[in-house]
Amino acid sequence: MAEQKTILKALAGETQAVPPVWMMRQAGRYLPEYRATRAKAGDFLSLCYNPELAAEVTLQPIRRYGFDAAILFADILLVPQALGADLWFVTGEGPRLSTFTGSDDLGKLGPADDIHETLSSIYETVNILTRELPKETTLIGFAGAPWTVATYMIAGRGTPDQGPAHKLMQEDIATFEALLDKITEATILYLSAQIDAGAEVIKLFDSWAGSLQGDTFAKYAVAPTKRIIAALKEKHPNTPIIAFPREAGDGYIGFAKATGADCVALDNSVTPEWGAKHVQVDGCVQGNLASRHMVSGGQALIDETKQIVKAFGNGPHIFNLGHGITPDADPDNVQVMLDAIRG
Ligand code: CP3
Repeated sequence: MAEQKTILKALAGETQAVPPVWMMRQAGRYLPEYRATRAKAGDFLSLCYNPELAAEVTLQPIRRYGFDAAILFADILLVPQALGADLWFVTGEGPRLSTFTGSDDLGKLGPADDIHETLSSIYETVNILTRELPKETTLIGFAGAPWTVATYMIAGRGTPDQGPAHKLMQEDIATFEALLDKITEATILYLSAQIDAGAEVIKLFDSWAGSLQGDTFAKYAVAPTKRIIAALKEKHPNTPIIAFPREAGDGYIGFAKATGADCVALDNSVTPEWGAKHVQVDGCVQGNLASRHMVSGGQALIDETKQIVKAFGNGPHIFNLGHGITPDADPDNVQVMLDAIRG
């Protein structure tokens, strides 16, 4: 039997002298080859829905750096689009969606089962990648967690404080919860289809979990994540799941146990020492180099990388950034980080 892949070993709880590594947004605008392929596709969404080109940009950072994992090239906002929302991207600004304002809009969304019609090309991308990735590279599929996806649907765009979503929660909780349920059901079907197509690990991005506190964190970050993981584990018991409740703070403590996640990804609001003490005690963690080091580089990048490897060195760890690499990052700094990790 071939030796198990490094990411899968970490997710199974193994401590490794050299942690496996990949980067959030590793296929992205900081790479000239990504920008060239996106130009060929025409725009970002056309790239997402073109299996050959989406597979190509997924492979680019693997060819350049030899990361231990590739993440499927797609976006968390394809799920609302597959449910019937309009979606477009404004260059230099970000996503725009038709706004979900109240109960009338629930009826405008299609049934969760119908999402595959829109998303079938994404499964085709996964399928191509299972053939084209190096045998030692793990393929990660993903989706947004329901709360984060809902914040974009309700505001129709990204927001600094997720105000519109909080407002709907307060003013019409039944509609708010029905929307979350709908996204949850669609997400289970979407992720299950990614696994059927060949995704070996799943990551759930709850980028705005940090704006939920106390009871609402339990109800809208923990509970939907737990439901998605339970449904996936029932059909695919051997597929590990990484949860990323970004900026959860103390909410990180016990998150793996509360949701059934195999790994919790940490952002930069916590130190690696804190993460080792409070989160890694329960199992694998992922993280958490600040993305700005990919812009600034230098000795600080090397020192910080080594400190993170050391802090998480006594348990299962997947090295990553605390959030996505930014378009102004220097591609050479990625290699500096890898050399600092792998020696
Ligand atoms: O390499 C990878 O990480 C895989 C592909 C991936 C993308 N988006 C591609 C992308 C993944 C995993 C995502 C997740 C995603 N998308 C999240 C969760 C993670 C996070 O960043 O918090 C969110 C919130 C989105 C929604 C989204 N997509 C926003 C807010 C934006 C605009 C902001 C930005 O960075 O431009 C996007 C666009 C997007 N998604 C790009 C990429 C490569 C840039 C689009 C371009 O090429 O112009």
